[in-house]
Amino acid sequence: MILTDSLLDFFLETRKHTESICEPLEIEDYVVQPVVDVSPPKWHLGHTTWFFEEFILKPHLQGYTQFDDDFSFVFNSYYETVGKRVVRSDRGNLSRPSVNQVYAYRKYVTENIQKLFEITQNSELNSLLEIGIHHEKQHQELLLTDIKYILGNNPLLPVYSVQFQDHPVESHNQEWVTVEEGIYNIGHDSEDFCYDNELGRHKVFLHSYEISNKLVTNGEFLEFIDDGGYQRFDLWHAEGWDWVNQNNISAPLYWHQIEGEWNHYTSKGLQKVDMATPLTHISYFEAFAYAQWKGHRLPTEFEWEVAQAYFPWGKRWEWTESAYLPYPKYKKADGALGEYNGKFMVNQKVLRGGSVATPEKHTRHTYRNFFHPQLRWQFTGLRLAK
Ligand SMILES: [Fe+2]
Repeated sequence: MILTDSLLDFFLETRKHTESICEPLEIEDYVVQPVVDVSPPKWHLGHTTWFFEEFILKPHLQGYTQFDDDFSFVFNSYYETVGKRVVRSDRGNLSRPSVNQVYAYRKYVTENIQKLFEITQNSELNSLLEIGIHHEKQHQELLLTDIKYILGNNPLLPVYSVQFQDHPVESHNQEWVTVEEGIYNIGHDSEDFCYDNELGRHKVFLHSYEISNKLVTNGEFLEFIDDGGYQRFDLWHAEGWDWVNQNNISAPLYWHQIEGEWNHYTSKGLQKVDMATPLTHISYFEAFAYAQWKGHRLPTEFEWEVAQAYFPWGKRWEWTESAYLPYPKYKKADGALGEYNGKFMVNQKVLRGGSVATPEKHTRHTYRNFFHPQLRWQFTGLRLAK
């Protein structure tokens, strides 16, 4: 547990960082929702603020007056315990409240959190603040990926930022890391913050395996494309093959073939695909099909966790072969916050690592991210095992 003063600094720095992600945006960019999985930036700004208001200020700051009585309806994401809310697919219809009102809401809630922590300090409040901070950090990553989707689907393919590096290099040579058969401990094991889905440290038996010390690159994936990987049903799951055909998938998200050359939309606008950099924006289905084609497989989340000390990671969220399930001793929290992770433990795949969009101090080697297998707007990638 962090002490209150440094926790408050962490809070303020997190609030500021969220707004800095939105700095390059024009006002019109804040409201667009091109697909249901992508939320408008304005909604993220409001929702992360609502989280502090709903779970900390309302129950714990005496005499607190809500900024606006409608905002819980507008900015509640999925908390049934809290009540009615705007359905996810309608977030793009929220031309009101205005962007200015949402920034005023942020300021109001930030100031009231500071006020509360000046009056009261206890471990329950610190834990709530810590989860609120990490919740906002999760949304910082979503903000970056949602902004990329919004601008990357604008026919003009505008530049987001020339500073943000979404295609980093991995310059080391590819090698296989060997892990011996044995019983290993899995799950979070320290006093530092983690989500409830990482708890329940337990033992797993692993057969010996090898795992690559390097992510699959664009160039390697292009060989799969050129070899007709997207046309060969035998490489795909049945659901994956349906997904390819129903959506006419023939390349990773944001790739465009122009006059015979592969380009892709990046935070710096349309650029030629650099074949040496790590592949990204692929679904689990594509990751699996590539591994099949290569004659290898994806690691399980346990294999990844045991081996992670032997390779650099954090540039791409890495698809694993593991279904998102509770650990053996998993216990969900009481009340509304029990809805945070547990109710999503069906039909999703675990991703490990972190990505160029993951904010500092957010991910760790036991962190379990999870998405549906067809989704690829996050900075997803893959590492092979055998
Ligand atoms: Fe959220």
